[in-house]
Amino acid sequence: MKLLLQLSISFAILFISLPSSHSCNSIEKNALLQIKKSFNNPRELSTWNPRTDCCTDWNGVFCTNGRVTELDILSGNLPGQIPDQIGDLVQLRHLEITDMPRLSGNIPRTITKLKNLDLLMFRQTNLSGLIPDYISELKSVTFLDLAFNQFTGPIPGSISQMPKLETLRINDNKLTGSVPDSFGYFVGNLTVLNLQNNKLSGKIPESLSKHDFIDVNLSGNRFIGDGSMFFGRNKRTELVDLSRNKFEFDLSKVKFAKSVAFLHLSQNRIFGKLPGELTKLPLDQFNVSYNRLCGKIPRGGFLQTFEPSAYSHNLCLCGDPLKPC
Ligand SMILES: *[C@@H]1O[C@H](CO)[C@@H](O)[C@H](O)[C@H]1NC(C)=O
Ligand SMILES: *[C@@H]1O[C@H](CO)[C@@H](O)[C@H](O)[C@H]1NC(C)=O
Ligand SMILES: *[C@@H]1O[C@H](CO)[C@@H](O)[C@H](O)[C@H]1NC(C)=O
Ligand SMILES: *[C@@H]1O[C@H](CO)[C@@H](O)[C@H](O)[C@H]1NC(C)=O
Repeated sequence: MKLLLQLSISFAILFISLPSSHSCNSIEKNALLQIKKSFNNPRELSTWNPRTDCCTDWNGVFCTNGRVTELDILSGNLPGQIPDQIGDLVQLRHLEITDMPRLSGNIPRTITKLKNLDLLMFRQTNLSGLIPDYISELKSVTFLDLAFNQFTGPIPGSISQMPKLETLRINDNKLTGSVPDSFGYFVGNLTVLNLQNNKLSGKIPESLSKHDFIDVNLSGNRFIGDGSMFFGRNKRTELVDLSRNKFEFDLSKVKFAKSVAFLHLSQNRIFGKLPGELTKLPLDQFNVSYNRLCGKIPRGGFLQTFEPSAYSHNLCLCGDPLKPC
């Protein structure tokens, strides 16, 4: 009887202590509450109640062994800023703040304390100022998305020193200047590069040709000169969009990877002929209109499935789907 009583007491203790052994770390809880305050207590964070366990009860907060490893705040329409305390969530691996059009200011320096961060996304907010150089101190980040913000100034060259970076999305900002020379010497394996809809200009460093890009979008900038470094036979290229720039190079000389499915080159100053090799590609989208191309459109593959507007406004392209030569 005594033993049974003891057993049930220890069971009770076990039950009471189990949840708390996995409850929110108090420093991290305070950091989260500070974020909530800094975001002006939006409705979206109403579950962030100081009396409950942030690991189990708070929307968008995920823990591993009682430490906050993932934070997702996916909407909110109140004004706010990112507080310094974000840097106290030192075990974060995944930080995603999106669709908060009134979140302003810059990315605080304390973010560099997040040494385990793998994914960093501040997308479709209203962050502004320079993209800070110190972002490159985040050496574990593989996925960096700062798209659809108000960032100005140049792309920091130090980004090329992020050893694990695979995806860089900084499109739809107000960035100026050229692609840093250091991008030709990326320490990591960058495969996705989204720079579209900025005010970037100048030539693309030739040395970028050694990168095996899968998905590149540079549309809607003011780039000039050669754009052929994004191509190459032995690559895994699937998508290249160079449209709406001032690229000027000979398309006849370009070698394409067999995997290219999306090719957008319209509205540049690209010259030469369409290479016959294009008939061998699994093209799904294709547009070379508004360039200075000439000669017969090769017959075969998917080339005749695109509308004439995909070829129009060139120097002298001819043949199906345009007029016979
Ligand atoms: C975004 O920030 C700019 C200043 O950088 C400000 O003028 C604008 O009103 C802000 N937009 C919103 C939706 O808050
Ligand atoms: C980059 O890719 C190459 C070849 O696929 C691989 O050998 C290398 O380890 C990769 N580097 C990193 C930092 O992932
Ligand atoms: C590249 O970006 C532009 C601008 O946002 C977009 O319209 C286009 O669809 C993108 N290209 C591809 C192939 O996804
Ligand atoms: C090709 O691009 C031009 C210019 O951007 C556009 O007007 C046309 O509709 C596009 N055609 C196709 C088939 O995508």
